Amino acid sequence: MDLYAVIGNPIEHSRSPEIHHAFAVQTGRDVKYVKMLGDLDNFEQQVRDFFADGGQGMNVTVPFKQRAFDMCDKLSKRAEQAGAVNTLVMGKNGELYGDNTDGAGMVRDIVKVQSQPMKNKRILVIGAGGAVRGVIGPIQLQEPYSLTVVNRTLEKAEELARQFNCDYASFDSVKGPFDIIINGSSASLGGDLPPLKDSLLNSNTWVYDMVYGTKPTVFMQWALERGASGSDGLGMLVCQAAEAFFLWQHVRPEQAPVIEQLRAEMS
Ligand code: ATR
Repeated sequence: MDLYAVIGNPIEHSRSPEIHHAFAVQTGRDVKYVKMLGDLDNFEQQVRDFFADGGQGMNVTVPFKQRAFDMCDKLSKRAEQAGAVNTLVMGKNGELYGDNTDGAGMVRDIVKVQSQPMKNKRILVIGAGGAVRGVIGPIQLQEPYSLTVVNRTLEKAEELARQFNCDYASFDSVKGPFDIIINGSSASLGGDLPPLKDSLLNSNTWVYDMVYGTKPTVFMQWALERGASGSDGLGMLVCQAAEAFFLWQHVRPEQAPVIEQLRAEMS
């Protein structure tokens, strides 16, 4: 049996064990996947102990993604771009390899599961924090027509735009309409809506909130009330897990049935 874990603090709410066990059943793999409460003082030792005890791979979640990044011997390009690691694997020679599957997971959900191609689209991303840093590179691989980052603190949007060679704007200056709008700010978590102008979207716009919940977020409500369509980020959770499962088990499970399963359990 292969042993995996997700480490975070808090961790009780994590759906990752359920998702990975569904993948294991689907692909016929003998996988055990557990939750581990990360110790703020002792995270690095916990990771080393897990692998020393025979663990094969770990997912890392809030607030440890940067610390995982710092302790890796090798990084994927997308982890390097994101400045954060959400998936760890131990290499044959005992070197710790870090990847970041969040952005690829989000893009896979949007493009493959939800059938919303990004190629040649005008895309707006809201926010310039850690979550957004992880998705810009994977979005650019889809070759959008344009990619604009809008953020409350303009300097952070400017810094991202410089790193990734994309456009940036303030909420006052940004000009729509966009084909796809992705909310990567943490505003939805607190039930807040960024100061968005109605002219950013029209009835052809497709929106995505990286946050998910039992009820539509305030951002989703804002967009749907104005005639746009779209989705919350539940699929991103499942698809980033599928990318990690692929890295560990070299097989990519079907994601749509697992998204449906989680959605049904939430209602
Ligand atoms: P995360 O890891 O979730 O990205 P973060 O790095 O703290 O968290 O970034 C949070 C992002 O959400 C930032 O872009 C933040 O804007 P600022 O850079 O101006 O702080 C954005 N954000 C949070 N609350 C917001 C709100 N109420 N309105 C608009 N943007 C908000």
